[in-house]
Amino acid sequence: MDNVYGGSAAPAKRLTVPEIRARKGKSPLAVVTAYDFTMARLVEEAGVDVVLVGDSLGMVVQGQGNTLTVTLEEMCYHGRAVARATRRAHLVGDMPFMSYQVSPAHAVESGGRMLKEGAFESVKLEGGGEFAEHVRSLVRVGIPVMGHLGLLPQSVHALGGFHVQGRSAEAAQKMVRDAQALEEAGAYSIVLEAIPPDVAAEITAAVRVPTIGIGAGPRCDGQVLVISDLLGLARGQSPRFVKRYAELGDAVVRAVSAYVGEVRGGAFPAPEHTYKS
Ligand code: KIV
Repeated sequence: MDNVYGGSAAPAKRLTVPEIRARKGKSPLAVVTAYDFTMARLVEEAGVDVVLVGDSLGMVVQGQGNTLTVTLEEMCYHGRAVARATRRAHLVGDMPFMSYQVSPAHAVESGGRMLKEGAFESVKLEGGGEFAEHVRSLVRVGIPVMGHLGLLPQSVHALGGFHVQGRSAEAAQKMVRDAQALEEAGAYSIVLEAIPPDVAAEITAAVRVPTIGIGAGPRCDGQVLVISDLLGLARGQSPRFVKRYAELGDAVVRAVSAYVGEVRGGAFPAPEHTYKS
């Protein structure tokens, strides 16, 4: 649809919330995280549908053991960098721990800042029916919300670690009800993290908004991976659900070792890297 307001600068034509919603059951959504301009430009060029500035940046970028210390200001800082690099991908940002839990009004205040100061187009928050009012309040003022069920990293202490969720029949049924509550409150899509594939399939069938799986099997409406996992930048063993599409961590170590060797041996810079006097 044309932008009725026109405008002089060529506007970014990003995937919109209604377009994302319309992909339900039709064409799987490819979602990745990104946290900076350089990586965001590459994932945009690769054609991803949605870039998530996840609060996983606490672990991936900052080296923390979990996501709890990430602040709203940090989310907005990374959001602005990623927004500068992307034109087509929809841009969603995680609402960090304690930026929305206290009350629906608090969620609206924080969500508003994320759109104004972080250049995000929508926000993601963790939790089910207990946050339906928060989601409703955000959506009411025009802030689209992506839900997040299953393994909720912001509840790592309550969960006792990063474990698969929804294995009992009661937990699975609660998750289906949570997904329906989020949909009813106006969420436009729902991330399902680390749950059995049959539970993810049941949730996907129970809601009319796209589900986006991470460690939730193939029967979701889309998939999301953390970019450092996908590219093999993270050291050590990856979780079972990660497919490493490259081994860039090893490539970086090889390249930088070669540089170190050439600097120490005097081979770099060569004449072709040197200005003429
Ligand atoms: O923070 C994040 O990167 C996420 C994804 C794992 C879905 O929430």
